Amino acid sequence: MDVQKITPLLGGMSPARFMRSHWHKKPLLVRQAIPGFEAPIPRAALFELASRDGVESRLIQQRKSGWSLKHGPFQRRALPPLGTREWTLLVQGVDLHDAAGRALLDEFRFVPEARLDDLMISYATDGGGVGPHFDSYDVFLLQAHGKRRWRIGRQRDPSLVEGMPVKILANFEPEEEYVLEPGDMLYLPPRWAHDGIAEGECMTYSIGFRSAQRDELARETLLRIADALGEADASPIYRDPRQEAVEAPGRVPLALQEFAREGVLRALAKSQVLERALGEALTEPKGNVWFDPPSDEPDLRQLGVTLDRRSRMMYDERHVYLNGESYLASGRDATLMRRLADQRQLSARELGKASEEALSLLESWFDDGWLRALPPA
Ligand code: SIN
Ligand code: CO
Repeated sequence: MDVQKITPLLGGMSPARFMRSHWHKKPLLVRQAIPGFEAPIPRAALFELASRDGVESRLIQQRKSGWSLKHGPFQRRALPPLGTREWTLLVQGVDLHDAAGRALLDEFRFVPEARLDDLMISYATDGGGVGPHFDSYDVFLLQAHGKRRWRIGRQRDPSLVEGMPVKILANFEPEEEYVLEPGDMLYLPPRWAHDGIAEGECMTYSIGFRSAQRDELARETLLRIADALGEADASPIYRDPRQEAVEAPGRVPLALQEFAREGVLRALAKSQVLERALGEALTEPKGNVWFDPPSDEPDLRQLGVTLDRRSRMMYDERHVYLNGESYLASGRDATLMRRLADQRQLSARELGKASEEALSLLESWFDDGWLRALPPA
C-alpha cells in the first residue's frame, strides 16, 4: 500500500498523515469514507453467522430494569422481532467467516498486522445501542446501513454503573455529536467514551485493533520459551560437592536458587528466542479458527497463491511466522515470504522466483488449508 497516497477512506489524508496526526491521539470523522457504501454482509447473512457454533455473538437489550446480555449462537427465533425497539446483535470476527469482511479489513493494513484484530458487525433496531462506554483499543466505526447518532467525549470519570452485565459509564460526558450515514466513518482512539444510538434499523462495522497488555504478552511469550526449553542439548545438572551438613534441612539452598536463576536468564538471553516466541504468539489463530484442507491439487506455480482469510502471517529480521509456527528465512526466499505476508498473495510470476525448498513449504501450507490457489486469471 502506498502510505503517502491520499485516500477518501481517511478524509483526503494519506495513511502516513493520519498515523502522525490522529492514530492513538484524537478522533476523526470522515464523511463518505467509502462513497456509496452498501453493506456487503446483509442482515440475513449476519443473522445466519450469529446462528453458527464457533462464531462469537452477543445480544444486548435495553430494558426499563437495565441492560441485558446474552451470548450466542442465536437461532433466528431466539432474536427479538425486528419490530421491537432497542436491541443490538453484535457479531465478532466477521473477517474470519466472510471474504467481503476480510477484504474490508485489508483496507486498514496501513497499520501493522500485529495490531489489527477483527471486524465486528452490529445490527440494531431503532433506539438500539450498547450504552455509553469506552474501549481500550483503537476503532474505526464505519456506518454500513441506516443511521446512527454518536456522542463522544474524553471521559475523565471512569466509574461504571454497578451490577450491569455490560460496561456502562455512570457519568458519560459527551462533547461532540454526529449522525453517521452509510459510508461515513468515525475513528476513535482508546479510552474515548462513545455512545451510538440507532436511528431506525442500523448496521455498524467496527474495525478493531488489539493492544496487548504487557504482562499478558510476557506470559504468552514465556510459555512458548518454556515449551521450547529442553528441545536442545542436554542442560547441566545441579551439583553441590561443597554442600555442608545442615541443621535446617527445610531451607532452600542459595546455590540452588542461583542455579535456577541462571537457567531462566540463559533461556531468555538465547539469540532470537524472545523474537521467535513473540512472532509465534502474535500469529496464533484465535481459538475458534480451524482450517479446511483443500479438496483439489491445483498447480500453485501456474496460478499463484493467496493466504486463506483466517491465516495470520508476519515476519521479522530472521523469521517468517504463519499461524503460530516460525520458519527461518534468508535471501531470495525471505524476500518472497515477506511479500506474501505484506500482500497476502503471490502471483504466478512472483512464484517463479521461489526455490524448490520454498515451493515445497508453500505446498505444505496449501495442504494445511493455510494457503489457497489464486483463481485462474
Ligand atoms: C456498536 O456497533 O453498536 C458498538 C460499537 C462500539 O461501541 O464499539
Ligand atoms: Co465501543
